[in-house]
Amino acid sequence: MHSFPYLTFLFILSLQQNAMCIIANITVDDSSESPAIVYSPASNWHAGSKGSSCSECNAHPNSSDIRTWHESTFTPNGNGKDDSNTPLFANLTFTGSAVYVFCALAESSVSPNGNSDMAFYIDGQLNGTFVKPAQGINNTYEYQSLVYSIDSLVPGKHTLSLQNGYTNSNESLVILDYIVFSYVLVYSGTYIFSTGYQR
Ligand SMILES: *[C@@H]1O[C@H](CO)[C@@H](O)[C@H](O)[C@H]1NC(C)=O
Ligand SMILES: *[C@@H]1O[C@H](CO)[C@@H](O)[C@H](O)[C@H]1NC(C)=O
Ligand SMILES: *[C@@H]1O[C@H](CO)[C@@H](O)[C@H](O)[C@H]1NC(C)=O
Ligand SMILES: *[C@@H]1O[C@H](CO)[C@@H](O)[C@H](O)[C@H]1NC(C)=O
Ligand SMILES: *[C@@H]1O[C@H](CO)[C@@H](O)[C@H](O)[C@H]1NC(C)=O
Repeated sequence: MHSFPYLTFLFILSLQQNAMCIIANITVDDSSESPAIVYSPASNWHAGSKGSSCSECNAHPNSSDIRTWHESTFTPNGNGKDDSNTPLFANLTFTGSAVYVFCALAESSVSPNGNSDMAFYIDGQLNGTFVKPAQGINNTYEYQSLVYSIDSLVPGKHTLSLQNGYTNSNESLVILDYIVFSYVLVYSGTYIFSTGYQR
């Protein structure tokens, strides 16, 4: 007979029941290569930088508060230099739980027309808008203006889309400076301890 009594003990010991979350902010510059912001139609977004004269640009910010930017102008009727009546997009795919979009806002009403008419989508769903007529002050910009934020996303991969202008609607200028997203690090300290013996 090969029977013998045995006894096994198994302890699963959770020394630390609460996972620790660390939230870190990552800034994606308008001209970042990785992760890259996808501009469409690409030819209607213009990269500007302080001290350079961007001949295709409508706006010419000149301040130590901005280093580089991507500019687009939506026009319903062909006044602009770009395709008429086609909304423009800047899309960013990121992994995180929050996202913040920062633009420069022109306060002039002409040269350039600083009217802002933006919509924001998360994973293709409309989640917010930013509408602000220019105050009509020449050669004046508001820098690092928060135009959209959300901090309640399910942690994971998301796509943010900024839309400039709406078909058959107002002229709108976007000077995109940078996007910040929050990255969640989860540290789970679980210790598993087991023991047993046979006889
Ligand atoms: C991340 O940046 C946003 C926008 O500047 C800020 O509101 C938020 O508090 C920052 N979060 C952390 C964890 O630093
Ligand atoms: C930017 O401003 C500085 C100081 O006001 C001026 O010297 C410079 O010519 C300006 N540059 C452009 C491109 O307008
Ligand atoms: C950007 O996002 C918008 C809205 O979700 C979408 O319609 C468009 O196709 C996207 N553009 C690119 C180039 O992926
Ligand atoms: C934006 O998305 C968040 C998270 O999914 C949701 O709670 C909120 O209601 C949405 N807001 C709008 C205006 O759709
Ligand atoms: C602002 O600029 C426009 C276009 O250059 C000009 O017609 C207008 O007179 C200026 N306004 C002021 C208050 O200087």
